[in-house]
Amino acid sequence: MTMARDLFPDFGLTQAQRREAVRGHYYEYPGMDGERGEIWCYSNRFSYHPGDEVTLFISSTASTCDIEIVRDGASEEHALSLCGIATSWQETPDQCSVEGCGWQPSHSFRIPADWTSGAYRLTLTAQGRDGQPITSHHLFILCPAVGAKPGRILQIAATGTWTAYNTWGGSNHYQGIAGANRDQYATRISTQRPWCRGFVVLPQDAPRVPVEVSLPPGTVPRYPHMEWAYATGHSKKYASSGWASYDSHFFRWAESAGYGIDLASQHELQFHPELLDGYDCVVFVGHDEYWTWEMRDTVDRFVERGGFAARFAGNFMWQTRLEDDGRAQVCYKYRARAEDPIYQTEDLTRATNSWEAPEIGRPGAMTFGLNSTNGVYAGWGGCSPRGARGFPICRPEHWAFAGTGLFYGDLLGAESHIYGYEVDGLEYEIRYGRPYPTATSGAPAGLEILALGMASSVEENDVLAPEDRFFGDEDGRFIAETLYGEASDENLEKVRYSNGMIVSFRKGEGEVFHAGTCEWVAGLLRSDAMVEKVTHNVLSRALGSSN
Ligand SMILES: [Fe+2]
Repeated sequence: MTMARDLFPDFGLTQAQRREAVRGHYYEYPGMDGERGEIWCYSNRFSYHPGDEVTLFISSTASTCDIEIVRDGASEEHALSLCGIATSWQETPDQCSVEGCGWQPSHSFRIPADWTSGAYRLTLTAQGRDGQPITSHHLFILCPAVGAKPGRILQIAATGTWTAYNTWGGSNHYQGIAGANRDQYATRISTQRPWCRGFVVLPQDAPRVPVEVSLPPGTVPRYPHMEWAYATGHSKKYASSGWASYDSHFFRWAESAGYGIDLASQHELQFHPELLDGYDCVVFVGHDEYWTWEMRDTVDRFVERGGFAARFAGNFMWQTRLEDDGRAQVCYKYRARAEDPIYQTEDLTRATNSWEAPEIGRPGAMTFGLNSTNGVYAGWGGCSPRGARGFPICRPEHWAFAGTGLFYGDLLGAESHIYGYEVDGLEYEIRYGRPYPTATSGAPAGLEILALGMASSVEENDVLAPEDRFFGDEDGRFIAETLYGEASDENLEKVRYSNGMIVSFRKGEGEVFHAGTCEWVAGLLRSDAMVEKVTHNVLSRALGSSN
């Protein structure tokens, strides 16, 4: 008999600290490192086009800094060294997460014509007051030039979700220092602030959200990622979003596997939709939760005209609106019906609510085949911490599984734990052992359900005391209210249990493949041969090639 892996690691934290790590509100702010000093950086945009000028805003306790820039692809390629950049400590407004930091520009440079599309990581180094180095990281995206890109993939980084989870300055779309009592999440957040610690780079041993320890009977589930974050000085949300936890793993894998892959931000979907015209295949990965109406329009048009949208991502939940040329993201979320000023107008289609709010009239399934409100949590905390680690397969004959040897009922990606931590689903019914979308599910015509797992929207279990829960029934009650008009106990029971799926359908001249899970990238990161094979099958079909 093999020994069960040790129970949850404690990272040196006491029980009180562990609780603070999960329930507390801690975040990056100027001055947090005290006497040692600090250096922070952000740029004027998420993404640039060839030939654009990049403007960096730096605040530092040191008077100069060095900046190393590398392209973070299959290998790390040196791009640029900047030495002796003059810096100073810059005042930061208290509500910088909302208003932006408003720092003076510190340095600008033009992107050389020979840099290739991808993610560019900046490492800033200066001298701390104790003589030891102080560092920080920043990242920007270089878009490809507009034009035909036969055989290439365009990956769209989930920058709306990065912004929503960025803890720097105290407020994001989850927790915050907004409101009279400084205890509210922010309904409007700025891109003009540094990324929080762990969004750009992470050590390899940083825990992912899904629980990797085996749990003996009666074990109280814990949240290793938040405990590790608290113990090591990383953002509470490092494992929820960001280049380092999600998007980077797909990009590096694809480039290593020999694909030609380019990178853009979600801003391009809104402000430069023409970029997609040159591609046959657009890819979305990781935790991809926040979209605008216009971004969806661009993807819908791309597919209608014959494009292939491959989404290996979960949690298609919220509509946002961009303001200030994309420098601010608005999402009222749980408070939308009470506070979003759009509810004072006639046209509610742009309400910053869940896509399945009936007043919007555009459920997520219309674009990607699945809804967040039919999915949500799996594999952590009080949501099936012993659940299926892979996707249960129900249509093994589908082209996506060719050459994998998968059988009906097999789990795809169980070894690498690709199922979780947030998944997207649909209402379904079982006929002759196979699931079909129900007539009222809102699924696009002809959609096939290839894999089906269980999920839930409520943390439960008798052993998980209320004070040990992370989100409890908040999300479940919200979904109940959104879909059924009232957050009653009766409606909560209608949404408590849900599912996560892989689906595939044709639309217009094009096609969509959607594996509705945040953790697909874990299969690529952990070299799971079967997950890699399915990914190859999807990309080959999308690119019209045999790989
Ligand atoms: Fe999420």
